[in-house]
Amino acid sequence: MPATIVLGTQWGDEGKGKAVDYLADGMDFVVRYQGGNNAGHTVIAEGRLLKLQLIPSGILYPHITPVIADGVVVDPRHLLRELDELRRTGVDVSRLRLSGNCHLIMPYHLELEKVTQRFLGRNALGTTKRGIGPAYADKAARIGLRVQDLFDQKIFREKLEIVLREKNAILTKLYGRLPLDGDEIVEEYMDLAGSLEPYVADTSTLLHGALRDGKSVMLEGAQGTLLDLDKGTYPFVTSSNPVAGYALASAGFGPKEVQRVVGIVKAYVTRVGAGPFPTEELGEDGERLGVRGQEFGTVTGRKRRCGWLDAALLRYASRVNGLTELFLTKLDVLSGFERVPICTGYRVEGKQFDDFPPHQSLFHKAEPIYEELDGWMEEVDEAKTFEDLPKAAREYVRRIEELADVPVSVVSVGPAREQSLPAG
Ligand code: IMP
Repeated sequence: MPATIVLGTQWGDEGKGKAVDYLADGMDFVVRYQGGNNAGHTVIAEGRLLKLQLIPSGILYPHITPVIADGVVVDPRHLLRELDELRRTGVDVSRLRLSGNCHLIMPYHLELEKVTQRFLGRNALGTTKRGIGPAYADKAARIGLRVQDLFDQKIFREKLEIVLREKNAILTKLYGRLPLDGDEIVEEYMDLAGSLEPYVADTSTLLHGALRDGKSVMLEGAQGTLLDLDKGTYPFVTSSNPVAGYALASAGFGPKEVQRVVGIVKAYVTRVGAGPFPTEELGEDGERLGVRGQEFGTVTGRKRRCGWLDAALLRYASRVNGLTELFLTKLDVLSGFERVPICTGYRVEGKQFDDFPPHQSLFHKAEPIYEELDGWMEEVDEAKTFEDLPKAAREYVRRIEELADVPVSVVSVGPAREQSLPAG
């Protein structure tokens, strides 16, 4: 059975939780492939509102095995807290499988992110302060500790001593902070190890076996294409790769297994944290999108910046991910706007770009070129089929398909599972 990749096409917060939850119905495995507890998925299932950060939303279905693959960075304290919360709401979490190759977020990652972001002052990225960047930096520098190290105290202690010597020197000498105590970290992490052990597995072999046995596997990205370390708006990005290609590196199988690549696209655009955003609306319209869309971060509670849909960026996301279909979310938020603009390209210093400009400085100066579509006044959250939508809303969807050159398969008009209308 082929694999499906599901990912965000914008700067995150496209409503992936909802989309993944809807698509997960026919899946046997749901795999989270990058990021950490910087992500936040809100899922409403059977009347329950659940906030997931690290655990794939597949956990809510008894027939699905949720998997956290190698490319995810794991804060064990956070993971155990999330498992506890799920358990308390009656969810059976015993099926979760966690790769032993995942890198650990350590207490010094959190501490260092706090001081380095502060040090950057007005140049700070506005990260989620979960230690994500420092953990991935140590992974690349080959000084990271991994989940598997938790099960060999001697190795864990040795690796920690080496890395902590450098981290404490930075914390004390450069930032004037107190050093962290290695023994305390060992004690705490060894304690957590016992609770994590039942979930740890060789997830690559597990997924190979699943595909060989004809099971369906969904690979779920966090954040979004424009926050990708390589393909996003660097340096205003996260420290991992949400793009489709990385899903395979993380899960550990090849591209021939993938048949569908579903891009989640919100009917407008939001961004949290710093960085360029050509279609940002700083006036009343942006405010209104934020209020109607309840655009506040799941993780940090920060107000999201809001603006109109950017089809040039969507085309780019389609290209770099090889999207086969779009899942359009939050169309209901656009009711009540007389005109709905879509950005089709940019003007930079008198020159026109139909695509994402290749140089960062150009993108910072990019002015959107808009095509204005008719809006619709009716609320659409009770629509049961695509045909129930007002004509202008349907035309908006069809125009997105044309501009992105990818078909929209589902339109979402509210947070509940039932508010998903097949549009094919
Ligand atoms: P980090 O991932 O915490 O290092 O933050 C880097 C950038 O990515 C910041 O601008 C964050 O606001 C943004 N970011 C990280 N995770 C998410 C997410 O799940 N949704 C939206 N933005 C995110």
